[in-house]
Amino acid sequence: MIVFDGKENIFKIDTENNSYVMGIIDEKYLVHIYYGKKLSGTHLAYLLDMDQEYLNDIHINYGEKSSFLDRLPMEYPTAGMGDFRQSCIEAADTIGKTGVELFYDSYKIIAGKPALDGLPATFGDGAQTLCITLKDDVLKLEVELRYSVFEGNDAVIRSAVITNYGDKPLYIEKVLSACLELGYELHDYITLHGSWARERRIDRQRVGFGCHSVESSRGISSHQEHPFMAVVSEGATQETGDVYAMNFVYSGNFVSFVEKAQFGTQRFGMGINPNGFCWKLEAGESFAAPEVVTVYSDAGLDKMTSTFHDLYREHLIRKSWVYSERPVLINNWEGTYFDFDEKKIFDIAKEASKHGIEMLVLDDGWFGKRNDDRTSLGDWFVNEDKLKGGLRKLVNNINSLGMKFGIWFEPEMISPESELYKKHPDWAVHIEGREPGQVRNQLILDLSNREVVEYVYESVARILRSANIEYVKWDMNRPFTDVGSNVLDADRQGEIMHRHTLAVYELQGRLLKEFPYLLLENCSSGGARFDPGMLYFSPQIWCSDDTDAIERLAIQESTALMYPLSVIGAHVSDCPNHTVGRVTPFETRGVIAMAGTFGYELDVTKIPEEDRNVIASQVETYKKYCPLIQTGDYYRIASYQSNHYFDCYEIVSKDKSEAIVVFVQVLAQPNMHSRCVKLKGLDFSAKYETDGKVYDADALMNGGFIIKRPWGDFKAEIIHLQKCRD
Ligand code: GLA
Repeated sequence: MIVFDGKENIFKIDTENNSYVMGIIDEKYLVHIYYGKKLSGTHLAYLLDMDQEYLNDIHINYGEKSSFLDRLPMEYPTAGMGDFRQSCIEAADTIGKTGVELFYDSYKIIAGKPALDGLPATFGDGAQTLCITLKDDVLKLEVELRYSVFEGNDAVIRSAVITNYGDKPLYIEKVLSACLELGYELHDYITLHGSWARERRIDRQRVGFGCHSVESSRGISSHQEHPFMAVVSEGATQETGDVYAMNFVYSGNFVSFVEKAQFGTQRFGMGINPNGFCWKLEAGESFAAPEVVTVYSDAGLDKMTSTFHDLYREHLIRKSWVYSERPVLINNWEGTYFDFDEKKIFDIAKEASKHGIEMLVLDDGWFGKRNDDRTSLGDWFVNEDKLKGGLRKLVNNINSLGMKFGIWFEPEMISPESELYKKHPDWAVHIEGREPGQVRNQLILDLSNREVVEYVYESVARILRSANIEYVKWDMNRPFTDVGSNVLDADRQGEIMHRHTLAVYELQGRLLKEFPYLLLENCSSGGARFDPGMLYFSPQIWCSDDTDAIERLAIQESTALMYPLSVIGAHVSDCPNHTVGRVTPFETRGVIAMAGTFGYELDVTKIPEEDRNVIASQVETYKKYCPLIQTGDYYRIASYQSNHYFDCYEIVSKDKSEAIVVFVQVLAQPNMHSRCVKLKGLDFSAKYETDGKVYDADALMNGGFIIKRPWGDFKAEIIHLQKCRD
């Protein structure tokens, strides 16, 4: 899949359908040449001719290198040497001198994919990796650029490992993981922006001159922007046009940008946000930049989506969970908030078990003195005033109903009103001399302190050892402010947020080692840390605190742009909805929550009886379609987010033997009765049957399928198509 042509000085990475090409100019500059549809050969050096037009200038007078460097399509651009566009790396030595100049040194092509120290990463069989080493001999700084590909998948997975091969420390002030040069065509860029309970709305804008970027500096990937960007050809649609996309396998601060420079070329990059970041690299040490998954599609967003979905299912999510049926759960948060005792929880479980629900998840409020959100984070001991008889008794009682038990933690936090804070006020992230800002009455634990990491691990593990707990919801409910640590030297304060992310990875990795059967669901005030980094540890992530079915349409559509449906935590909740006050039919809430890991978020003993009576059949429908939802190819057919009336998507099994079409009429329109939706992905020459009627697949795909005259608002249906035997 990967070759080096020494005559042409060309590296060529081939995936199933695409090629990624780099070259070496003047024996020292590594430049980007091509990323797009698969090319047949390596006679590609001529594509560098344009970039070399100014090369002579620097041969005559090297001091004039800026005119050359500022137009070169650099594979890993550096700052301070004459390329004035966005850079990937900035560094300083111990006396504060900055500027990095990287020259090509060597390469190797290896079978498999080397691990990235302490970081989540794609894994699995059928990988090949190209490592290209660049060096700055003045700073004694080495950069190893890594490109991995998996057989049968089109993604190119990028990272960079920085090593200090000198004898004095270096300060890495910026280190991005990937950069792409996109040439002169007109492009749009797509990002996902949002807010609490309003995560990941699709935003599309023209790439004009200058730099356009999104970022998080909150210490988490965030509600507000998402570590994803796609740069697409003008007019690209779901099915047509070029798409270049990046998604970051990381859960902390990030930046992603596209910059159109003076000559019209466009540079696209992603990595850890340099704002507030500085990593001290001692002599001989290395720093691994997290992975960026790069995807090119020549056939619009649908093809991009399927590359991401397949990659994440095959090479990122833990094998033990990725395709296994998840228990249908009921979570008590919206049902009770903090107001519960062991009887109420048991009653909910008992009633839920009668309707086929398989797991009870006990949310916030079971520990310390936590009867509201003002206290007790950090005091991870069971509140036996609330749960009389203790946790083990409750878990045993729930297990005796044939149900599993899961529990909520927010391990990275400390409440100022807690036993832990009384003992260790210095364990909170804070800046000496300043009153630290609270969010939801809480502070963040300083995970750059090893003692704190050990305390957190033992607090969670002790509870998991104490009873038969099979699921953990790991929450993180505030952004970082007042970023300071008591245990780090002054020149290491810029490491705090990255160290925090690494510690979260370490903690979750350790938990899964000690409790390998555990189903982990990450959460962050809903979906503020919904990213591939977290997916590596938890095969499902709570998508949003907004459980309103209609709001969820947009949130789940955007989330599914790159994440498979089987990872999207989606629950049926009670109405009027707690976030927006909307009332939707219980059936519709069920259909929409099925585009995810299905569950309930309500007090089942309190909802109307006619709703309660629907639960068993919803669970049955979910179980019926679950294998298809988990393994099939997902296609977006219509978007309520853009048309404001209806939503439609389709899932087709890999062998094309069956498909489901999910149609939601959000608002009825007068004089607009039936809808016609063009299906995708079917076996073109086959016939499909639904509801006793047979259709030609080519007619369904070119002509469309007629959804009959839905009446009223908020109506949803699932159409199941089965391929006819010849
Ligand atoms: C966050 C989560 C919710 C719930 C509460 C509990 O907001 O997103 O699902 O767990 O915390 O405090």
